[in-house]
Amino acid sequence: MIKTYLIAALMIGFVLILSCAQIDNKGSGSVLHPVNPNGDSELALLMRAMFDDGMTMKKEVLAGKIPTSLLEYEKIHTANATEPEKAASPEYKAYSDQFLSIVKKLKTSDEHQVEHFYTQLVHSCMGCHQAMCPGPMVRIKKMYLDYEGDL
Ligand code: HEC
Repeated sequence: MIKTYLIAALMIGFVLILSCAQIDNKGSGSVLHPVNPNGDSELALLMRAMFDDGMTMKKEVLAGKIPTSLLEYEKIHTANATEPEKAASPEYKAYSDQFLSIVKKLKTSDEHQVEHFYTQLVHSCMGCHQAMCPGPMVRIKKMYLDYEGDL
């Protein structure tokens, strides 16, 4: 029994290390502690804005509209990250290029394509997070059009 708890505790510890240094699994407004003592990184702030923007786009898409986001997604390439070596990696560059190309397709899609490209966008958020920063995935999942849990 005790052994099971120990293993569980170890696994939780491991997940925390992997999750970009914070717990973020209870939806908006529940970030438990700042990412670093100097406040949140530019990238973390951009990401939060991307999530809020994503939830707005979701409503638009569900209403049959083409999203009209004005958020500067290109900043994903230049915003300073909490762990700069992560954002400097070739992996990050590949994921962020793919992400930006989907943003473009979404913005220029017609009403037949919009659900498809919106879903691709959420996949793209999830893909980079799966590879580099799994913590926020629980939250990003809520952007899916068919998400059925609590918001
Ligand atoms: C190219 C990789 C990449 C893509 C694509 C990406 N993210 Fe992130 N995300 C990161 C990294 C790296 C961090 C950690 C940022 C930091 O702490 O500096 C992060 C952090 C976050 C956070 C936590 C911010 C906080 O409060 O600290 C949220 C929420 C988030 N991303 C949501 C999203 C959403 C929504 C999308 C898609 C619209 C997305 N991400 C796409 C790499 C990515």
